[in-house]
Amino acid sequence: MSDTEPTGRRRLLLLAPAGVLAVGFAGTAGWLLTRRDGPVPIGGPFELVDGDGRPVTDRNFRGKWMLVYFGFTHCPDACPLGLQNMAAARDLLGPAGDQVALVFITLDPERDTPEVMRDYASAFDTSVAALTGSPEQVAKVAKEYRVYYAKAPMKDGGYSVDHTSIVYAMDPQGRFAANFTHETPPEQIAARLQKLI
Ligand code: NI
Repeated sequence: MSDTEPTGRRRLLLLAPAGVLAVGFAGTAGWLLTRRDGPVPIGGPFELVDGDGRPVTDRNFRGKWMLVYFGFTHCPDACPLGLQNMAAARDLLGPAGDQVALVFITLDPERDTPEVMRDYASAFDTSVAALTGSPEQVAKVAKEYRVYYAKAPMKDGGYSVDHTSIVYAMDPQGRFAANFTHETPPEQIAARLQKLI
């Protein structure tokens, strides 16, 4: 979420919209999942680059389940926890975990170059697909996944990035299947995936 250092009151105000977004989104997703008149419109095609600077698209992940999370490497709290829980959930699946790809997409393409992304993600799990791209490519995929993000200026002249914090489970055809937050315990994510896979 944000690593600005506002007063307690301002921090609450900053975090509140993200919480509301997450709750509102989960409700919407549940409703959309029950619809029978078409595919759930979350996710979609993307073109990004991996930690080695190679082009990667959504089609690279067909045939695998994906756990997808959007964030940025300077994030002090939500992103590290989210990635840690995703990696732990996959480990808990044992051999079935081989069917699950972990995908981390930056919302801060200016600072998160392929090399920065690779180094960051490999601290959690070397198999994480750490994806970045042009600001336009990132904006496109974020829109498809309904991810909100915005730069938040800091006193020192730098910036943080406020962002929606949702872990998406996508099926082997690239369709939305379930969602969690960065705080969902790995045991809970693994149990849900076990039923889905
Ligand atoms: Ni974050």
